[in-house]
Amino acid sequence: MNFKIVTIPGDGIGPEIVREAQKVLEKVATVYGHKFCFEKVLMGGCSIDAYGEPLTDETIETCKSADAVLMGSIGGKVGQSSWYELPPEKRPEAGLLKLRKSLGLFCNLRPAHLYPELKKACPLRESIADQGFDVMMVRELTGGLYFGTRKTEVVDGEEVATDTLVYHDYEIRRIAEKAFEIASKRQCHVTSVDKANVLDSSRLWRKIVTEVGKAHPDIALDHALVDSTAMQLVRNPGQFDVVVTENMFGDILSDEMAEIAGSLGMLPSASLREDSFGLYEPSGGSAPDIAGLNVANPLATILSAAMLLRYSFNLSKEADAVEAAVAETLTAGLRTADIMEDGVSGLTRLSTSEMGDQVAARIR
Ligand code: IPM
Ligand code: MG
Repeated sequence: MNFKIVTIPGDGIGPEIVREAQKVLEKVATVYGHKFCFEKVLMGGCSIDAYGEPLTDETIETCKSADAVLMGSIGGKVGQSSWYELPPEKRPEAGLLKLRKSLGLFCNLRPAHLYPELKKACPLRESIADQGFDVMMVRELTGGLYFGTRKTEVVDGEEVATDTLVYHDYEIRRIAEKAFEIASKRQCHVTSVDKANVLDSSRLWRKIVTEVGKAHPDIALDHALVDSTAMQLVRNPGQFDVVVTENMFGDILSDEMAEIAGSLGMLPSASLREDSFGLYEPSGGSAPDIAGLNVANPLATILSAAMLLRYSFNLSKEADAVEAAVAETLTAGLRTADIMEDGVSGLTRLSTSEMGDQVAARIR
């Protein structure tokens, strides 16, 4: 089949990790007889340098013309990069938020699963890591604090900053529907996370999710507070199947989930809407400290490419092949620096490009 993939390498380690994911997709195309046509665009800091803004209208149109978008990471170091001297709406992150909103990508999936091979890289106590976990975070991506009005002003001689957290019932309903649909193909258990003991937006969240849950009697539904969930994730992550939550809570909890899964370099993500179009990116950031050194872990981006094959192209056999190739690579003891385990023999440290080569070579 023929598909068009727009790539957004972005900043920091982005170009290195996207290059490896593209390498793996090209191997998939060869082995399975598909034609993937790639077009590269700029977003984030590199777009500011080239065009004076983090995301141009032309880039949005190019993304819209694709079947799927594969992204690396954007942004630099606050305080060190001149990008952060610009007004907030001109900074790299604003480009990503605008792209998510312009493309209507309200549903962000972040699967965190502990590979048995990475148990030693998991910072949790051995007795917890031994039990393993497989959590699907369903993060609402186009509402909440990220998109409410904000301002900084001087009131009576004091500086005051305000951000607003707004949720409409339909925004909660559609993400809850997605969570139940996904749970029906997994362990049939949804945990909805909120802060309903304090926030109105969370009380509405809980009410709507409960309503949606009534239409899915075969799926178990729990409600949990976000602070307690942060604690339970390190105490007993195996209790979770699908976790659905609002934008900001999802941002925070997904970094925690990535860390307990061994590394931020292991967590892929898919940002979806109702049709098959999607944007795929690792959950981690641009890691400016190690950019250009060929040491970053490309596996989260490669696993994001597997999600792209599954969700946007409906190529599940090919997606399985990529995921199996990643698992085999880990079983063979091959590791990038972030997932090297102290005191474990039989491991070989690889560069970013060597890791991409090894995964590509295992696509069958
Ligand atoms: C993420 C990132 C982004 C977010 C940043 C870069 C704006 O942290 O995708 O988790 O907060 O959504
Ligand atoms: Mg984040």
